[in-house]
Amino acid sequence: MKTVKKVVLWSLVVFALIQFIPIDKVNKPVDHKVNFIETKKTPEKIANLIKGACYDCHSDETVYPKYASIAPISWSVRSHIKEGRKRMNFSVWETYNKDLKQNILKRSVETIQLRLMPLPGYIVYHEEANLSEAERTLLANYFEEILKSNNY
Ligand code: HEC
Repeated sequence: MKTVKKVVLWSLVVFALIQFIPIDKVNKPVDHKVNFIETKKTPEKIANLIKGACYDCHSDETVYPKYASIAPISWSVRSHIKEGRKRMNFSVWETYNKDLKQNILKRSVETIQLRLMPLPGYIVYHEEANLSEAERTLLANYFEEILKSNNY
């Protein structure tokens, strides 16, 4: 029993200490000339879907949830955002070359249809990201249209 108490106590101490290792939550300013939604003149309805379902990890306009202040959850959130932005960042769309844009659009359609995106774990805590079947179709069709237009 004594050991159990010690383990609990030390776990609490470690938990308290790691709270002092914060994450960087500062968003970069968005350049309107390269921002996807603005340059593509995305219709408002679709733009709202993208903002609600993809923006927290794939833009420089991340809204951090309350639980993102608690380590070690915050570290996991931070790493998803870092990784997400690296793969695709809507805020810097026009800085990508055509091949990369094409690849991202194709993968977006696939990941939305296969329900790989938005990340399933994220949907649990974000009602607006829990896209209905109709919303998924709308969003996937929108990305597909841009692909077909050959103007991305
Ligand atoms: C909670 C964070 C999060 C959200 C929300 C999110 N993504 Fe992602 N996304 C990631 C991470 C992390 C990766 C890289 C790791 C991976 O592929 O699983 C990624 C990768 C991707 C990729 C590259 C996949 C590949 O294999 O080439 C695409 C495309 C993508 N996301 C599209 C979207 C779209 C579209 C949305 C909104 C409908 C979205 N994501 C929402 C975190 C997120």
